[in-house]
This record gives sequence, structure tokens and C-alpha cells, in this order.
Amino acid sequence: MKVLSVVGARPQFVKLAPVAEALGDAGVEHVIVHTGQHYDPELSDVFFADLRIPAPDVHLAVGSGSHGAQTGAMLGPLESVMAEQRPDWVLVYGDTNSTLAAALAAVKIHVPLAHLEAGLRSFNRRMPEEHNRVLTDHAADLLLAPTQVAVDHLAAEGLAARTELVGDVMTDVCFRVRDAVLAAGTRAPGAPDGDHVVATLHRAENTDDSARLAAIVEALAALPVPVLLLAHPRLRAKAAEHGIALDRGSIVVADPLPYHEMVAAVLGASGVVTDSGGLQKEAYLLGRPCTTLRTETEWVETLEGEWNMLVPTIAELARLDEIVLRGAGASPQATPYGAGDAARRVAAVLQERRP
Ligand code: UD1
Repeated sequence: MKVLSVVGARPQFVKLAPVAEALGDAGVEHVIVHTGQHYDPELSDVFFADLRIPAPDVHLAVGSGSHGAQTGAMLGPLESVMAEQRPDWVLVYGDTNSTLAAALAAVKIHVPLAHLEAGLRSFNRRMPEEHNRVLTDHAADLLLAPTQVAVDHLAAEGLAARTELVGDVMTDVCFRVRDAVLAAGTRAPGAPDGDHVVATLHRAENTDDSARLAAIVEALAALPVPVLLLAHPRLRAKAAEHGIALDRGSIVVADPLPYHEMVAAVLGASGVVTDSGGLQKEAYLLGRPCTTLRTETEWVETLEGEWNMLVPTIAELARLDEIVLRGAGASPQATPYGAGDAARRVAAVLQERRP
């Protein structure tokens, strides 16, 4: 069997790592195509090195652009690669523009399409990722769902027959890296000594509106503990464009971290503030309270027991300190994301359901 994976953005490299290993272990031929949506080494190359992912077989070097321009620039080259490779499955990951472009390219030339992390929904049609998810799920022949909630969403949309619950592959990586970090005593570079929180911010809904971005930065700067802000290039670019200084008050600005150091940063912090999907889940899995600067979350399981709390409006930023520094109990006991063996399930299901 031959599987062609299409990835392009940081979270997809994390998901690819355990899948590439599991496909290799199962003796499956695996072709990796990198669209080039993310190209800065700190968002791309370091993940391949850190997580020991085989180098991409094909790199399309598409780069940044508006949604239409970026997605469109991927389509033609992806179609050519798929037509040449003729895999048994094209496997797409998550909800980025790379996911949607690859889904569209595959179905147009009748190559079977599997979607990993299918069925997540924010029900927020303003998010680019929500369109990418819904369109990809409805195009795909096989929907690999990470949670029961995702399975239920797919059933409600009439997609139950194409759905398999496999668990969350990011949990596979997170648990493995947590164990390695604890064994090696890894520390995140730049992390302040003593009590502090880790923050990331990159979503268009937060970065592109100057009033909202200014309010968030001000609230972070006013927290009574140091805030290690791992700044995505989009955040730096938008803050500069809006004339908002990031390095002030409690904020300590640093570059995005490789995965092992990111896990070390979360373990070393007393809490997380973010708008990232993956990081909300990692905070939950690592037993650190998370504060999410969004109106909703796709990972609703993390909200149980206030392990994750949403801060949807600018008005609520006024009590960010109270929310971020809320006391945490014992680590979450539930395991809604599986036991860390989702990638093996993915490899097995792709073989069982091979068209
Ligand atoms: C993308 C995904 C988002 C995901 C995120 C993870 C879409 C619609 N969004 O958002 O779902 O959570 O990746 O990081 O696909 N840039 C660089 N260097 C890079 C890449 C981007 O400087 O290597 C800057 C550019 O200014 C670019 C901007 O970041 O215009 C946005 O990049 P883009 O890939 O369009 O979206 P992300 O915000 O990274």
C-alpha cells in the first residue's frame, strides 16, 4: 500500500511524526509532500529534526499569501504530484489551507482521500479553519476522528459510514516527548525562573484586529507573573504593523520553540495562555491550566473541571489575572484523547479500508 501525506504548517508536522513512524512500522510505502505554507526554519525544519520525521519527498515551496492565492497556488502542483504518484490514499491533516488544497486536488482526480483529525467543529464560520475542516470532511472518503465528540459531529452531518474513531495522534507525541523531557530534565531556553506562564498568540481573529491585539497584549503585560510569549511570525508582523510593542510589562518575548522545548516550557510553567488548538490540548495532557483567548474551542473535553477556560471578549480581559492564576487541582483523570496509540490505529484503518 502507498500513502501520500500532505503537510505544510507547524501543527501538521507534529501530527505527521507518529503517523510516519506507524506507517513505516506497518511496511507501508509513504510519500511526504510539504506544500511550503510554513517555511521559516523555526516553524518547519526544526520539527522535522526534533521529531525525527523523514525529509519531505516533494517540497512545493508555495509560501505565504491570501487564502485564495495560497490555496490556489498549491492546487496545480499537488494535482501533478498525486497524478504521478497514484497512491492508494492521500492523507491530509487538520484544518489548514494545505489540508483543503490537497483534499480538493485528490478528489478531482479520483484519488482516495483520508482526513486525519476529522469532525472537529468550532461552529464559528468566521474562522478560516472551520471552512477548511467542513469542506475537507465532506470531500473525504475516510474520516479519522480523534474523539467521540468529533464522531458525533460527523454523524450529525450524515458522514457516519465514512468515520472511524482512532484517537488523537498529537497525544501519542505529547506523551512520548513528556517522558523524554522528564527523563532528560530538559528546560525551555529563555524560561523565567520561578512562577510564570507560557503564552502563544497567532490566530487571525486575535492578531489582525489592532484593538483586540492591543487589549490582549496589555492584559498579558499586566499579569502579576512573568509571561513567556513565544511569538509566531504572524504575531510579530501584525504587532509591528499596528505599532504595538510586545516586549513590555510582564511579557518576555521569545521565538517559537521546537516540540521538546515547548513541552518543557509547559511543564515548567504554572499555566498556559493561548489561542492555539494543539497547545490547549497539550496543557490538558500535561496537567497545566489553560486560558484560551477565543470565543469557542474545538477541544471541548479540555473545558471539563475548568482545565481550560475561554476568554471570549475584550471586556473579560480585565480579569485575566484571576482566570490565568486560578488554582489547579490534581491533573485531569479523563482520557478523551486516547492512550497514545492513535497512529497505529491510523495505519491499521488505512489498510483495512483500502479502496
Ligand atoms: C496557519 C493555519 C492555522 C494554524 C497555524 C499554525 C491556515 C488558514 N491557518 O496559520 O490553522 O493554526 O498555521 O501555525 O492555514 N509567516 C512567516 N513564516 C512562515 C509562515 C508564515 O513569517 O514560515 C507569516 C507570514 O507573514 C504569513 C503569516 O505568517 O503571511 C500567516 O501565515 P499562514 O500560513 O497564512 O497562516 P498561520 O497564521 O501560520
